[in-house]
Amino acid sequence: MADEYIANILKGAREDLASAHTSRDVEQARIKYLGKKGLITQRLRSMAAVPPPQRAQIGREANEAKAEIEAALAQRLATVEQADRRARLAADRVDLTLPGRRVVPGARHPLSLVLDEIIDVFVGLGFAVADGPEVESDYYNFEALNIPKDHPARDMQDTFYVSEDILLRTHTSPVQIRTMLRQKPPVRIIVPGRVYRRDALDQTHSPVFHQVEGLAVDRDISMGDLRGTLELFARELFGPDSRIRFRPSFFPFTEPSAEVDVLCFGCKGAGCRICKASGWLEILGSGMVHPHVFRTVGYDPEEVTGWAVGMGVERVAMLRYGIDDIRLFYENDVRFLTQFPRR
Ligand code: DAH
Repeated sequence: MADEYIANILKGAREDLASAHTSRDVEQARIKYLGKKGLITQRLRSMAAVPPPQRAQIGREANEAKAEIEAALAQRLATVEQADRRARLAADRVDLTLPGRRVVPGARHPLSLVLDEIIDVFVGLGFAVADGPEVESDYYNFEALNIPKDHPARDMQDTFYVSEDILLRTHTSPVQIRTMLRQKPPVRIIVPGRVYRRDALDQTHSPVFHQVEGLAVDRDISMGDLRGTLELFARELFGPDSRIRFRPSFFPFTEPSAEVDVLCFGCKGAGCRICKASGWLEILGSGMVHPHVFRTVGYDPEEVTGWAVGMGVERVAMLRYGIDDIRLFYENDVRFLTQFPRR
C-alpha cells in the first residue's frame, strides 16, 4: 500500500472492531472512522493536498479502506446484535417447570373465633359491645361491685397490684360499673376483654386470660330472661341439643347468684372423663344485679332489675373444641393454630 497513513487507519479499525462487543462499541468505531470528522473521511477530504502523481492511487486506497471498514462494521454489528439478543433472552428466560410460590394462608386464633361467635349471639339480641381499661382502680374492680376491703371474696382473686389502689383488673365486671355510671337504663352490653390473676401457668390456669361480661338492665328483667338468653347462647355455641342447668352460688355483686353448667358434649350427661363423671360442665357465673350495686351507680333498684354474667373465653373455647390444655392458646404453634376453620 502506497499510503502508510491509510494502512495505519485500517489496522486501527480492524483492532477496534475486534474488541467491539456491543452495538454501542460498533457505533463508536463507525463515528471514529467514517463519521463526519472520521479518520477516513478526513483523509478523503484532504486529497487536494496530495501531489497529482499519487492522488489517483491514494484516493483509490482511501476508498477501498472505506469500503472495507463499512463491510467490517456491518458484519461486526450483526455479530454483536445477535450476542445482545441471546444475552437478553437468557436474562428473560422463564422456567415454566419451576414449582409455583406457595401461598400459606393465615388462620384465625381459636380464641378470636370463639369470641366472635359469642359476640355475634349477643349482638343478634341487641346487645352493644363495651370495653374498659385493663389497668383498673380498686374501686371499680372491687369496691363498687360490693366487694369491700375485708370481704372474703377478695381472697378468691389473687390480684396483681400496680399500687395500693391501682391493679390489673381481675375480671371484666368493673365495666358494668363504668357503663352504668355513664348511661341511664336500659342497658344491654357485653364486654370482651383480657383479665389478670396471680396464677401460675399450668394446664388449666393462666395469669392472663379472657372473659366476656354480659349485663342487661331494664324494667321487669327477671331470672327467666337470664335463663332464656343463656339457653339460646348454649344452643348457638354448643349445638341444638345443648342444655344448661343453674346451680345456686355466690357472688357479692349478684343476688341471687348462679353458676351455669352445659350438658357435657362428651357423654351427653351420662358421665365421662371430660366432665369428671358429673355429666355437666361449668361455663359461667351469673345472677341478678345486687341492689347495692344499683344504688352505687345511681340506679333505683325499685325501678329497674337486671342480670349479669361472666364467662371465661378460654374455658368456652376448650369445651367447644375439646382442647385439654390452656397453654396451647398462648404458644402460637401453627400446627395448633391452623386446626380451627371458621364455622
Ligand atoms: N366476675 C366473676 C369472676 O370473674 C364472674 C361473674 C360472676 C360475673 C357472676 C358476673 C356474674 O357478671 O353475675 O369470677
